[in-house]
Amino acid sequence: MPGLLLGDEFPNFEADTTVGRIHFHDFLGSSWGILFSHPRDFTPVCTTELACAARVSDQFKKRGVKMIALSIDSVEDHRNWSKDVMAFNSDADTSLPFPIIADHNRELSVQLGMLDPDERDKDGLPLTARCVFVIGPDKKLKLSILYPATTGRNFDEILRVIDSLQLTAQKKVATPVDWKVGEKVMVIPSLSDAEAAALFPNGVTTKELPSGKKYLRYTQP
Ligand code: BEZ
Repeated sequence: MPGLLLGDEFPNFEADTTVGRIHFHDFLGSSWGILFSHPRDFTPVCTTELACAARVSDQFKKRGVKMIALSIDSVEDHRNWSKDVMAFNSDADTSLPFPIIADHNRELSVQLGMLDPDERDKDGLPLTARCVFVIGPDKKLKLSILYPATTGRNFDEILRVIDSLQLTAQKKVATPVDWKVGEKVMVIPSLSDAEAAALFPNGVTTKELPSGKKYLRYTQP
């Protein structure tokens, strides 16, 4: 992801959106945020993704995460496309529950390193890839995922990752493969056994391994 690394402050860009002009940091306020980009309006995979994002928007709200999408078309196109998206969800009377940024001149897509050189429009101009940026309340980048235009994302996985990001921002733990809320987590390697015992009143269990090294330490957060 050229130009933007984990821990960097996310740019406070100004942009036109389906809810008017925004300054990104003001839009976020003190919330977590997710910005997800789309190659183009009125395209099939993007439509299924936006529809899914709308269906699970309550799940983002529950986690205190403000959603915003981006595509390289105009506000007017975004508004019309949003109607298709909600109709796809058989929910034509409801508006899309989050705004879409209009990046028709690709300025933001270039700034955030979102263009996919392998996918081009009919004029040969690159389209945006499917980027996911999760931004913390401190405005710093906590996660970035980059999919090519030809592969739709999995919003259950994005919600699972947000659960991990929010937990590990609060506690000195890390979440293992396929972890879900409620399951055991790992004590981070930089904590001594004494520190872990003091920090985790639910106890720490250590798995015996052939190496004899005691690094697989679990606790219930
Ligand atoms: C789509 O959203 O279906 C799509 C967009 C650009 C390239 C390939 C697929």
